[in-house]
Amino acid sequence: MHTVKNFALGLLAAAAVATASDVVQLKKDTFNDFIKSNDIVLAEFFAPWCGHCKALAPEYEEAATTLKEKNIKLAKVDCTEEADLCQAHGVEGYPTLKVFRGLDNVTPYKGQRKANAITSYMIKQALPAVSILTKDTLEDFKNADKVVLVAYIDASDKSSNETFAKVADKLRDNYPFGATNDASLAEAEGVTPPAIVLYKDFDEGKAVFSDKFDVEAIEKFAKTAATPLIGEVGPETYSDYMSAGIPLAYIFAETAEERKELSDALKPIAEAQRGVINFATIDAKAFGAHAGNLNLDAGKFPAFAIQETVKNQKFPFDQSKEITHDSIKTFVDDFVAGKIEPSVKSEPIPETQEGPVTVVVAKSYNDIVLDDNKDVLLEFYAPWCGHCKALAPKYEELASLYAKSEFKDKVVIAKVDATANDVPDEIQGFPTIKLFPAGAKDKPVTYSGSRTVEDLIKFISENGKYKAAISETEDDAEETATTSAEGAEETHDEL
Ligand SMILES: *[C@@H]1O[C@H](CO)[C@@H](O)[C@H](O)[C@H]1NC(C)=O
Repeated sequence: MHTVKNFALGLLAAAAVATASDVVQLKKDTFNDFIKSNDIVLAEFFAPWCGHCKALAPEYEEAATTLKEKNIKLAKVDCTEEADLCQAHGVEGYPTLKVFRGLDNVTPYKGQRKANAITSYMIKQALPAVSILTKDTLEDFKNADKVVLVAYIDASDKSSNETFAKVADKLRDNYPFGATNDASLAEAEGVTPPAIVLYKDFDEGKAVFSDKFDVEAIEKFAKTAATPLIGEVGPETYSDYMSAGIPLAYIFAETAEERKELSDALKPIAEAQRGVINFATIDAKAFGAHAGNLNLDAGKFPAFAIQETVKNQKFPFDQSKEITHDSIKTFVDDFVAGKIEPSVKSEPIPETQEGPVTVVVAKSYNDIVLDDNKDVLLEFYAPWCGHCKALAPKYEELASLYAKSEFKDKVVIAKVDATANDVPDEIQGFPTIKLFPAGAKDKPVTYSGSRTVEDLIKFISENGKYKAAISETEDDAEETATTSAEGAEETHDEL
């Protein structure tokens, strides 16, 4: 009897060991505390039905177990249960993985989704972001990358040390950070501690920060000094330019010689606008189509345009005029003085609305989308986007259901071809779906659920002013259940 009981207990214990997980499942009321009480956390935002999430699960478990002894925590959040939490963290596809160092320092996970890769990535992330340098290592470090930052600090200056470490933690994926408290090295460099020198392999070679150490000021310095006076727009640099917070002036030209020639001519203008407007060349042979996005004729080069990256407005330079130092200087000065109107691309306003989904164009955006009396769900799509095509029949069904319901005058289901119309919203992938609630047009809510009629209705009823819940017809329910597995699993088609 005794043995049997022990045996049974042993089995229970074994079962408990087999199912115990080192991945911590977080919810709305536990998330913030957990992040705050751990130095570094990798969090996965997932949906139970998503195939990529299922494939990741055993790898993630294995990495969590390995990393446990290093005190690096792995967590997960089920976005079907914690929609608000996932929305607050900008989750748009599954799985989304983010590295948290506290709540204010969040970076996307950029490694592979395999146990080994997760483990080594996170161990690296947990290492100090600042390398301590000596006279033997400083010179090599200066050339370790296109841009590196070195702080010269007194050994006793704890506050500058901490501030620099904070910046390094935040920007560790962007540049290598080093520091030294060797006074002779500072002297050889010609700086008085505390100071930061940014070394770069272009333009003037280095830039010095000698103001009071402050996280924001140093970040701004790093961003400005690390951006070439006239850089190049390409796949690696585009997102940095778009997130720089200042306008970008594009110099389109088809050959390297011509890009150099124009850069040389416009350099004094770029110099004068440093920190106000970024200037960059762009290879019009490879990326000429981008000229169309700036409302330029994409077949006519060289060309010049300014993009206001915060409001996403475009200011194309008249392509019948020649690009010279003087013509561009006048254009840029007028732009800075606010004398130039942005160019707005729009399809014509449709004379009649043919289908159940309301067609929005740039010229009708304000009238329809910003109509303060209506909850407007707007899909931003591109004609070539496969996920958008897959969504189309469901979206039409959604629109028909609302058109037939008691909410027909309160809820609008709309779409806009964001490649043919300039919209004020920043769109990162297609399709993007946003609800513009009545009475709160300045606070649109981005949809991140699965792309099913059922979930879209739920979203509108939860986030719209009119709480417009309607029911689906019964025979759709089955189709919804089977398609939800593919619905939002993959991320969007990229721009
Ligand atoms: C900054 O502080 C850390 C931790 O106290 C220390 O290890 C490091 O040497 C300091 N850095 C400099 C440049 O003094």
